Amino acid sequence: MPTIRILPDNVTIEARPDETLLEASLRAGVAHAHACGGHAHCSTCRVAIEHGIDGCAARTSAEQLLAERLGFSPSLRLACQTVPHADLIMRRLILDDEDVALVDQRRRGATGTAVGEARELAILFADIRGFTAFSELLPPHDTVHVLNRYFHVMGPPIARFGGHIDNYMGDGLMALFGYPERNKNPALSAVRAGLAMLAAMDALKPYLETAYNHAFDIRIGIHYGAVVVGSVGAIGHERITAIGDAVNFASRIESANKLAETRLMVSDAILDQAGSLLQLGRSLQTVIAGKTGEYKLHEVLGVS
Ligand code: FES
Repeated sequence: MPTIRILPDNVTIEARPDETLLEASLRAGVAHAHACGGHAHCSTCRVAIEHGIDGCAARTSAEQLLAERLGFSPSLRLACQTVPHADLIMRRLILDDEDVALVDQRRRGATGTAVGEARELAILFADIRGFTAFSELLPPHDTVHVLNRYFHVMGPPIARFGGHIDNYMGDGLMALFGYPERNKNPALSAVRAGLAMLAAMDALKPYLETAYNHAFDIRIGIHYGAVVVGSVGAIGHERITAIGDAVNFASRIESANKLAETRLMVSDAILDQAGSLLQLGRSLQTVIAGKTGEYKLHEVLGVS
């Protein structure tokens, strides 16, 4: 019979024929959360299979539905639906009542909230150059109106190339390419979107000049790398976001435009993914705050 090791409890038990991981865990006296009673409705019994995923039976159709809705990676399983056929090590992820309240899908209604998933994405940061000086010339309500107009104009170029605006930070924005939908070349899509954003910015300038006697410009930084994406926030206020070093790096690239006096800079990682199609301008060898060594950044002028 397969042996199941249960973490973090450090309990080992032998599975019975056709017994699910949840049944085995409860039989071993583990306080394994199972808010819906084992019907694949709540996801509170979820476990990470740390060893032996190949020895687990395929997902049941009920598990498959929930796993797709929540963006489970292959090693994340519902213990109430998973039957082991070989030795495995699993880690319970929902450990107390507060965890149960946070993840119980019945409380969250029909809307899925993606769990954390490691992915490689393109991350785009855009910021307005000199917006503080621009806004000091305007009454507050005009400042808000201009920002809204700017964000309204930037949305379509991002969406056209499959990006999602993940966050607004003051007069800046962050967009992700390659999540949640997979994208054949997220790096190239992000660069195309960045160029389209610059064109949209140029088209907005006459309006700003006419309405406010001043215009501004934007800076864009794009990087490609590994991040963790998932749904973050209090219940009812969740949003999908990306976390990781690659996000910080993209933000630093955006800032590096100041040094290089450029509008759109990308990393070597973007060049690796889409370089042969990019028309490049100047390059900059620079230190990046929070990272050791120097990094080469590249101005992008167009895409062939
Ligand atoms: S106990 Fe609810 S999904 Fe497994």
